[in-house]
Amino acid sequence: MKTIIVSGSVGSGKTTISKKLVKSLKSDYINITEFVKKNKIGKYNKKYNSYEVDIKKLNTKLIKIIKEHKKLNKNLIIDGHLSHFLPRKYVDLGIICKCDIKKLKKRLEKRKYSKNKIRENLDVEIFDIPLIEARKKKHKIKIINT
Ligand SMILES: Nc1ncnc2c1ncn2[C@@H]1O[C@H](COP(=O)(O)OP(=O)(O)OP(=O)(O)O)[C@@H](O)[C@H]1O
Ligand SMILES: [Mg+2]
Repeated sequence: MKTIIVSGSVGSGKTTISKKLVKSLKSDYINITEFVKKNKIGKYNKKYNSYEVDIKKLNTKLIKIIKEHKKLNKNLIIDGHLSHFLPRKYVDLGIICKCDIKKLKKRLEKRKYSKNKIRENLDVEIFDIPLIEARKKKHKIKIINT
């Protein structure tokens, strides 16, 4: 039974891919954004309209759930741009979603994000930050172009 993380920049298609995997692999599912809110492991930052997350706390909680799933022999999909910070040994596969910059810009504009927020998120994609960070963690990586 597998633990699969799905990471990538904001709007790159993580949740879309994750939901498909959940169906085809009959997996349980964690969306990190929802998980952080529910477990109160993030502090809301008004200026950036986003949550600052304590990665250590997040990982501790996720690892507990991963271990439970291994025991129960159940697949688990973890969806979110912080998922690749999990230690390599708890993860079987790391999927990194990538998206064409022009398309990504359109997706983010649709969400009515501010110009700055769009710029920042596009930079994350342009500089391939999730992929570079995931490689640093030595995850087994599969790139999916959305
Ligand atoms: N493979 C795809 N083909 C076409 N459109 C896609 C694809 N994947 C995602 N999209 C579109 O892109 C938008 C963002 O997708 P999605 O919500 O899955 O991204 P995300 O990475 O989970 O975003 P967030 O970082 O906010 O959680 C949605 O409107 C979705 O329909
Ligand atoms: Mg999502």
